[in-house]
Amino acid sequence: MKNLALLTLGTLLTISLFAQEKTADDLVKSMKKEDITYAQLMQGMGMAKNNIDMGIISMNKFLVDRGIDLIRTHPAPKAKPWFIMAEEDREGFKSMLVYYDKKMDEDVEAIEKAVNQKDWMKALEASQELSNSCISCHISYKDKVKYIME
Ligand code: HEC
Repeated sequence: MKNLALLTLGTLLTISLFAQEKTADDLVKSMKKEDITYAQLMQGMGMAKNNIDMGIISMNKFLVDRGIDLIRTHPAPKAKPWFIMAEEDREGFKSMLVYYDKKMDEDVEAIEKAVNQKDWMKALEASQELSNSCISCHISYKDKVKYIME
């Protein structure tokens, strides 16, 4: 009985891992590809975050919208993002990509809503939530980068 439970758990884990892998691949395939490295894409994410934060502080909806749009429609880099990681870190990084792509879309939606209501304090709080998403992934993976995209 115990073995059966373990076997079932093992199968479920395998299926969900497989599903995740497929999702990370699908995610990247659904994006427009740009001739940039992953680090260059991240520079764009940094600019987007600056636009959002500067836009909130100066109460400039146009700047915030620019930043939000970049985060929503950002392209994929020239090679699969997980290629920058060591073999043993790729699966984990894939799950992060899938999870945070969705999470950052939710974060910018909250910022957008607050800005549309001209509630700048709420927008600032929502932007802090976006910062949490950026930092959570960086804490786990930024120092694990092993390869640079050629
Ligand atoms: C899914 C994980 C993940 C998320 C989410 C993420 N990043 Fe990154 N980021 C990375 C990794 C990995 C690197 C290191 C890339 C490298 O060195 O090649 C990085 C590097 C960076 C860099 C440095 C780029 C350079 O020139 O070296 C900036 C700036 C950055 N991220 C901004 C952001 C911002 C802003 C957000 C949120 C809006 C964000 N990132 C969300 C994984 C992520």
